[in-house]
Amino acid sequence: QTGYVTLDSGYKNTGATKSAITFLDGEEGILRYRGYPIEQLAEKSSFLEVAYLLIYGALPTQAELDHFSGQITKHTLVHEDMRKIFDGFPSATHPMAILSSLICALTGFYPQSVSPDLSPEEMELNIIRLLAKMPTIAAWTYKNNMGHPLNYPRNDMDYCANFLYMMFSFPTEKYEINPVVVSALNKLLILHADHEQNCSTSTVRLVGSANASLYGSVSAGINALWGPLHGGANQEVIEMLEAIEADGGDTSKFINKAKDKNDPFRLMGFGHRVYKNFDPRAKIIKVAADEVLQALGMQDSPLLKIAQELEQAALTDQYFIERKLYPNVDFYSGIIYKALGIPTEMFTVMFALGRLPGWIAQWKEMRENKEPIGRPRQIYTGELERDYQGIEAR
Ligand code: SDX
Repeated sequence: QTGYVTLDSGYKNTGATKSAITFLDGEEGILRYRGYPIEQLAEKSSFLEVAYLLIYGALPTQAELDHFSGQITKHTLVHEDMRKIFDGFPSATHPMAILSSLICALTGFYPQSVSPDLSPEEMELNIIRLLAKMPTIAAWTYKNNMGHPLNYPRNDMDYCANFLYMMFSFPTEKYEINPVVVSALNKLLILHADHEQNCSTSTVRLVGSANASLYGSVSAGINALWGPLHGGANQEVIEMLEAIEADGGDTSKFINKAKDKNDPFRLMGFGHRVYKNFDPRAKIIKVAADEVLQALGMQDSPLLKIAQELEQAALTDQYFIERKLYPNVDFYSGIIYKALGIPTEMFTVMFALGRLPGWIAQWKEMRENKEPIGRPRQIYTGELERDYQGIEAR
């Protein structure tokens, strides 16, 4: 501490804001959205109902939910000019880079969305547009990357079924919606919907605190989430499990690598800044992974077996125990995404789809609370004052 500044790298002990949206207790492994335990919402609610709860603070009546989901259905199409933007990306561009670019590009299709003085009606429309169009943009990103025909959204399908239809259907054949897949996706999106002041949500709040638009703020949040230490970990976990399988499945070898300070390898999907106990979401996803794989006839998935062995090995190893490293939300989610047919490079896009209502709710709360622009200080460690020298004297 020097003078008036307390250094807190990574904000490990800094409360950046007050919020009434999500409560989590890292020691007890508790997570609640607007007071409702995640275990109940994952079992009983729907993703759009949870989105409504997070954004507006209460569970909707049937009429409110019908209006909300009806509005979203009406706005799922994107401007046809958006198709041209896809052609501008190099073919190796990661879907998260495309997603953050296209979400920011929405400010070009809806210029009024940039105004800091939106009426409540305009704010509501911006929120509906974002919730409605992100799945279409995400599915188009995948189809475009695959060289497949793009699918338009269907107004006769609910949110999750519509996304799966846009992702996996072909105009040449009938697409059968699998209720097991829809239910698993619904549960996964609910479990990812908000998580108080995580890195990407803090990014959305910080960018929004400068009066930047909702679309620009969420675009920034998508890039923070892409980081392999954050949402990008779900892609890293599957790639790690596949590497372990390809290496012969010796999990103890990789546990030792994770413990070796000279080895950059980390057990991806393990550890958490706040949870020093089992991540409650990981517990639910682990059970769901078993159920989904059973239902889809994939119960002999070698990756699930490796994940379970890895988890057991880590939970009984002193290195992980003393550092309170437990599986987090990303450890099992990739196994379900893979079983649902979602390609690995789209896993973090799925995380972004789930986290979108949380980003919106937190941005809206920050604006409604008229929070000041975020501008932290620093502890200066550079050169003391010195005079300029001409280049001949250097
Ligand atoms: C998410 O914040 C959120 O809420 C995020 C999230 C959300 O919903 O928004 O929950 C989503 O991001 C989940 C986390 C996904 N990331 C990963 O799975 C990547 C692997 N995990 C780690 O990189 C790490 O655990 C973090 C980033 C999650 C947390 O890092 P911290 O809190 O800064 O902890 P740290 O890096 O200081 O680690 C503490 C110790 C260190 O050892 P020592 O220096 O004390 O000897 O634990 C070790 C670390 O080396 N450690 C690990 C490890 N995680 C931490 N060692 C091996 N494997 C790991 N995974």
